[in-house]
Amino acid sequence: MRFFPGGRQVVIGEYESLIKAMTKANIPIVASCGGEGVCSRCKVLIKEGQVKSLSTGKLTGEEQEQGYVLACRSFPESHLVVEVSEESKLGVHQVVLGEGGGNLKGRADGSKPGDSILSGSNGLCAGGSGVPLFRKLCLVMPEPDINDSEDDLGRLVRVIRSVTGIKHLQTNLDVLRTLPQVLRQSGWKVTVSLTGDGRYQAVEITEVEPGHTAGQYYGLAVDIGTTSVVAQLVDLENGRVVGIKGTYNKQAAFGDDVISRIIFASEGGLGELQKAIVDTINELIEELAKEQKIKPVDIRAVVCAGNTTMSHLFLGIDPTFIRIEPYTPATNSIPAVRAGHAGLNTHPLALIRCLPGIGSYVGGDITAGVLITGMAFSGKLTLFIDIGTNGEIVLGNQEWLISCACSAGPAFEGGGLRHGMRAMRGAIEHIKIASGGADVEYKTVGGAPPVGICGSGLIDCVAGLYRAGIIDRGGNFITAGSTPRLRESIEGMEFVVSWSGESGGRVDITISEAEVKNLIRSKAAVYAGIRCMLQTVGLPAEAIDRIIIAGGFGQYINVRDAVNIGLLPDVPVEKYSYVGNSSVKGAQTALISGRAWEEIDEIIHKMTYMELSAGSTFMDEFVSALFIPHTDLNLFPSAQS
Ligand code: FES
Repeated sequence: MRFFPGGRQVVIGEYESLIKAMTKANIPIVASCGGEGVCSRCKVLIKEGQVKSLSTGKLTGEEQEQGYVLACRSFPESHLVVEVSEESKLGVHQVVLGEGGGNLKGRADGSKPGDSILSGSNGLCAGGSGVPLFRKLCLVMPEPDINDSEDDLGRLVRVIRSVTGIKHLQTNLDVLRTLPQVLRQSGWKVTVSLTGDGRYQAVEITEVEPGHTAGQYYGLAVDIGTTSVVAQLVDLENGRVVGIKGTYNKQAAFGDDVISRIIFASEGGLGELQKAIVDTINELIEELAKEQKIKPVDIRAVVCAGNTTMSHLFLGIDPTFIRIEPYTPATNSIPAVRAGHAGLNTHPLALIRCLPGIGSYVGGDITAGVLITGMAFSGKLTLFIDIGTNGEIVLGNQEWLISCACSAGPAFEGGGLRHGMRAMRGAIEHIKIASGGADVEYKTVGGAPPVGICGSGLIDCVAGLYRAGIIDRGGNFITAGSTPRLRESIEGMEFVVSWSGESGGRVDITISEAEVKNLIRSKAAVYAGIRCMLQTVGLPAEAIDRIIIAGGFGQYINVRDAVNIGLLPDVPVEKYSYVGNSSVKGAQTALISGRAWEEIDEIIHKMTYMELSAGSTFMDEFVSALFIPHTDLNLFPSAQS
């Protein structure tokens, strides 16, 4: 098979699907339904050759005539030449790196996120429970003599203790075997590598080098997202971020959301999923090392933040029971492991820590967000929202924290919508619809020709359709006095956001009535989750001092429109801020600061998890929120006006 653009070639057997071939050829493709043949996101164009297709999913007759097939349900019957369309590719996904998100209003004391938990001029805490995950010490040791004949290791430990105050130290056989010669040949002047912070196990002396060599050593902070993965390279000597890279998660070839990945893992695919995420991180390590001209073995500590399923899959832990009532993960708090054991191409003895979560659907990425916003140590009542396929929400202040996860469905990530897509190049990210709906203005990511609509564009679209009088409060199209953009299709009424040929677009980009209702259900789930939490603590939305939005979804969101459709609470827009990729920022903070782990312990201890499926409150709130903006208009006074 040969793939275009790019011309990559791969040999596959007749029983291997085209999607398998693309994985082999390292061509990432969107596979929202995990290869079930129902989402049609994996469509490719057969330019030459024959395939056998088991299903055509949602492909239109026109697309089938043009030669499009579903890569997940098609098998080769001859040599093939295949074109992969822009919207099916994963490689151009816009990854929210750790930088940016600068409009966060700050922590209670006015400091920036992460500031208050760092101490010392170099940002590293020294001694006691405040030690970082890795560091080097340059030591000059007293030589033994007839009056001081303590053994070599005992002498080394004594000196390290006197310098650092670390009580529990251990070492390994490799260090012991070379220790006598290294100490004597260096004239008792050595550099010691210490791995671990002593919180859960003794700090380990992992290397003793002759002379003072405390040169380069780095740490890696990783956000393991379901969709994308971001890695920051951090200089552990001064705590500075020296490089940052992001890419799509290679697991996307096995399904878009955590549920399809858990199912794939449960059916024997755990090894493949683990390999996919390890390969993804290793690629980022290679790129960062090349860019910064360092060796991957110079990376001596890794901190990962991801949702509970991603953390399980990364370490090959069975996630099966995360999706089965009563939704119990193998662990919320994964013990530290060595990089060599996990398959990462860093120093093999580098310690990997995953930030702990508090439940199957509130994982380490949310802990990272709570850490970085400082909300757990602030007098201000803060609402933290991270919306992906799941909406994860935390409400609280320095006294209490409550969290929940509501199933928003994939609509805000473009899933389940014919022209929905993630915030990739060409995605329509902002839409303005004039009254009556005849004129539509839009903006695409990267200014590229439109290929679909991403989450922020979809919110704008629903708000715009309602404002323009094209849909009613229930999301039904109002046909009377309709515009040419409103038309019948085989799937019912649809509105044309962008005509084919307009701004270089290749097809009409539409949103149907069913899709509008799907989006209303998604926004209702998120808002119902927020309402449930507020009701539990007996507070109105007005009591919230600040609302912090995290993740890729928040990057382009128009808060005003999100309030207008009833997705977010109707509080002054100034209370809203965007924190960017809080997951990688939290991981970075935990990488360089021992005190961060004390705060993390406190957060985990303080935060309660609210299971929304228990009781009827969530369902009642959900049903009430199935209107634009809500059944109770008093909850949205500014949207009304
Ligand atoms: S139809 Fe192929 S991945 Fe969904």
